[in-house]
Amino acid sequence: MNWPTVTHDLVHCEPTSQSSRAVSPMSASGTNLILSRVGGSRLELRDHTVVKHDSSANAAIEFLKTLQARAIADRTGLFRVPAIIAHDTAAGWIEFERISDATSLQRTLATIDKRKAAVIMRRVARALAAIHRSQTDPYIARSPANDNTLADHPAWNFVHGDFCVTNVLYSTAHDELVLIDWSSAPWLEKTYVYGPPHIDLAVMVISLFLRRPFEADRIPAPAVMMREFLRSYCNDAESKFDPNELRQCVSWLLSRIFSGSRSTENRVRLIACYPSAWSAQRAVDKFVTEL
Ligand SMILES: Nc1ncnc2c1ncn2[C@@H]1O[C@H](COP(=O)(O)OP(=O)(O)O)[C@@H](O)[C@H]1O
Ligand SMILES: [Mg+2]
Repeated sequence: MNWPTVTHDLVHCEPTSQSSRAVSPMSASGTNLILSRVGGSRLELRDHTVVKHDSSANAAIEFLKTLQARAIADRTGLFRVPAIIAHDTAAGWIEFERISDATSLQRTLATIDKRKAAVIMRRVARALAAIHRSQTDPYIARSPANDNTLADHPAWNFVHGDFCVTNVLYSTAHDELVLIDWSSAPWLEKTYVYGPPHIDLAVMVISLFLRRPFEADRIPAPAVMMREFLRSYCNDAESKFDPNELRQCVSWLLSRIFSGSRSTENRVRLIACYPSAWSAQRAVDKFVTEL
């Protein structure tokens, strides 16, 4: 079996003293921008690196998943995953290589012509199918950071967990996809290392449609992009694709997004997203019926 040997080396490696200095939480030197993230964690954009601060549990999950993702990327050549430069998951931080020449899939789709956009969507689907086909890393499966087990769910596999248009980047200069943010989406409740593959499909589909008020990069023809993505995924991972699972997953995710206690400001923002979110559901229903 082709387990990623790199995992085991990296899991035990400690940050070098140099990189450890570079991300000392007390010193913000070299930091260009600090972004607050959902749940109170933060992200520092530095000249050449990005430092993500989170709870130790979330950092441990993201660390393990990034390692497995990098092994898949190396093996398949279908995408790139930023390298981990240094980490201290117990302290809740990971420092990643910063890929500065890549832009989000959202911006890419909003700015290139339809034909090129369709080609990129097919590549995104092939990358995801390869992720879902990847074998379970026994080290990760045994890790206490992994709170779900494969044994209970034979249909589950390695998932990205938040496979949306802002976590898929595209570099025009290198013509490559870059997949970031291997933490789980905060609204998923559970930290998915392994999970139902339709989660990733549903998140991508909803994110293609979701339009937040005053958002700059609107994806034209999201239904066309969705069809390119889903058809290509079906071709590559036929056995994994169940149209009804997808339909259910989309409606489950939408109800999660729009339920729960939130601030008034968040509620107002969410209500404004409502029509676009439900057009995602309608588009999936139509796609499934036409299959
Ligand atoms: N390695 C990276 N290279 C370039 N940009 C990055 C990198 N990591 C994060 N970013 C930028 O920071 C944003 C937030 O990072 P992300 O890991 O997605 O955290 P969050 O969990 O807050 O979504 C991304 O959408 C991207 O624009
Ligand atoms: Mg993200």
